[in-house]
Amino acid sequence: MSTTWLLTGGAGFIGANFVRFVLANRTEVSIINHDALTYSGNLENLAGLEDDPRHEFVKGDILDAGLVRSLIERADAVVHMAAESHVDRSILDSKPFIDTNVGGTQVILDEARKVGGRRVLLVSTDEVYGALPLDRPDLLFTEETPIAPNSPYAASKAAADVLVRAYHHTFGMDVVTTRCSNNFGPYQFPEKVIPLFVSNLIEGKKVPLYGDGLNVRDWLHVDDHCEAIVRVLEDGTAGEVYNVGGNNERSNLELTRMILELMGCGEEMIEPVADRLGHDRRYAIDASKIRRELGWEPTRSAWPGALEETVAWYRENDEWWRRVKSGAYRDYYAQQYGE
Ligand code: NAD
Ligand code: DAU
Repeated sequence: MSTTWLLTGGAGFIGANFVRFVLANRTEVSIINHDALTYSGNLENLAGLEDDPRHEFVKGDILDAGLVRSLIERADAVVHMAAESHVDRSILDSKPFIDTNVGGTQVILDEARKVGGRRVLLVSTDEVYGALPLDRPDLLFTEETPIAPNSPYAASKAAADVLVRAYHHTFGMDVVTTRCSNNFGPYQFPEKVIPLFVSNLIEGKKVPLYGDGLNVRDWLHVDDHCEAIVRVLEDGTAGEVYNVGGNNERSNLELTRMILELMGCGEEMIEPVADRLGHDRRYAIDASKIRRELGWEPTRSAWPGALEETVAWYRENDEWWRRVKSGAYRDYYAQQYGE
């Protein structure tokens, strides 16, 4: 039976990969892709899909309630991932994060409630849990870990996350939430550490490593995240949260050294820079619930192979990131890292 999913934020990194994943793996699903094309949304991420009858792109802001409602009316379910997504930008200016991540989620929930009968999945993040210490490798985020966000970005995502919870509790809405760790893969905006470092090295520039470089992230290939979203949308229990992670913890220094090696560069290309304000020390996910209840397993995330493929993608697709880096992104780079 054919079915239609409304996707918000589908011209960004995870969104574009999600569209490709669903079109390839769910032949009965069509996608309405609703995206405002902010600085990180890029139609080039969707190149080749222009003539696919199962993909319709609609440019628009999730704060436009009338548009959101008309799109939800045409869909059977909603995958909501439109967001301001970069921690450093939230430190420079948190307003767009509150507007889109909190206000936009409220619009999605209210319009879905008015239309009725549609499951809404929120793509949340492990950053809502705050940070773990380095000296307790036994500690992992579980779905019961208290919400304790540390950056304005994480706080805005946490607000969206608990709004979803509240709409389930108050109105009995059919909602599900995923909280995933750091993604890597093609089409990631080159403000995020992996594409930033790879593209800098290709340009002959050093890589700006924050603080002591010992902060830890749990890296998952974007296609494994997309598969988790599909599984939770299709079979997750209403009102539940599902952690998604790769059991792939790496310090930033370890990641940087791997990238340097893959690029044939030495450690002199590391530029130690001032630490991110409030920099979360470690994220690590316990994903046993989604494994146990939905049978999800990461199958594309193993390093070094998966990292090597991603680095190769940025090397082979330099026109894509060169165009991105040559635009307004240059002003942000100068503000964040200095001239
Ligand atoms: P991204 O910045 O690459 O993409 C965000 C997309 O949302 C862009 O296409 C942008 O144009 C769109 N958008 C922004 N504001 C909008 C608005 N007001 N109306 C409509 N569209 C708007 O981000 P990403 O890395 O692809 O992240 C996608 C989602 O996944 C976010 O919700 C993020 O919090 C979450 N997430 C990301 C990661 C990760 O590692 N990247 C991990 C866990 C969760
Ligand atoms: O954990 C999930 C989150 O992962 C998502 O919710 C966010 O949307 C996504 O941006 C990502 O957040 P991070 O802050 O972890 O990702 P980022 O790529 O910005 O940074 C990864 C690590 O690398 C972090 O510890 C900071 C460090 N870093 C980052 C940049 C941009 C540097 O050392 N230098 C840099 O220039």
